[in-house]
Amino acid sequence: GPETARLVASRVLDVPDFPQPGVMFKDLMPLFADGAAFREVTDGIVAYHGRDSFDVVVGIEARGFVVAAAVAYAAGVGVVPVRKAGKLPRAAHSVSYALEYGEATLEVHEDAFTAGHRVLVVDDVLATGGTAEATLDLVERAGGTVTGFTVLLELAFLGARKRLAPRPVHALLTV
Ligand code: PRP
Ligand code: MG
Repeated sequence: GPETARLVASRVLDVPDFPQPGVMFKDLMPLFADGAAFREVTDGIVAYHGRDSFDVVVGIEARGFVVAAAVAYAAGVGVVPVRKAGKLPRAAHSVSYALEYGEATLEVHEDAFTAGHRVLVVDDVLATGGTAEATLDLVERAGGTVTGFTVLLELAFLGARKRLAPRPVHALLTV
């Protein structure tokens, strides 16, 4: 709700020209570092989706891992990491997507999900939606069913919500 949105807004730092000129980096590390705030957003995510609406949480390397582990622990379920290319030791699905400059690849183990597993995907920031789109594709390719997708912060002007439609996007704070 509005209180959680205000909490996120109060714990994000805007860093201009990182990682490159013209980009305003949204740094959520002050939120992660504040125990009470981190617990409130974690519990808020679980409450929004409902503790029994997912069987596993997917976190997107690297900042999404922080959120995913907390949410999974709070809900009493496990975590499946979606990793950047070349990090997973066993057979994996890969999806590549365009970045502003160049290309990125995300991967998930082929046996990460049992068929029909309900998957909640979480990440810190939703910007262009490329990372999220690749991840949602990966989960489905690996046999999972995405039942929710939550980010702490959505940058609406980049249009990710439209890109991901009709899949629902839940953001604690949209700016
Ligand atoms: C950032 C952020 C999201 C993604 C959002 O991750 O943590 O995962 O970008 O951008 P998009 O919507 O335009 O795809 P980044 O790739 O910088 O890596 P990190 O999480 O390892 O810091
Ligand atoms: Mg990330």
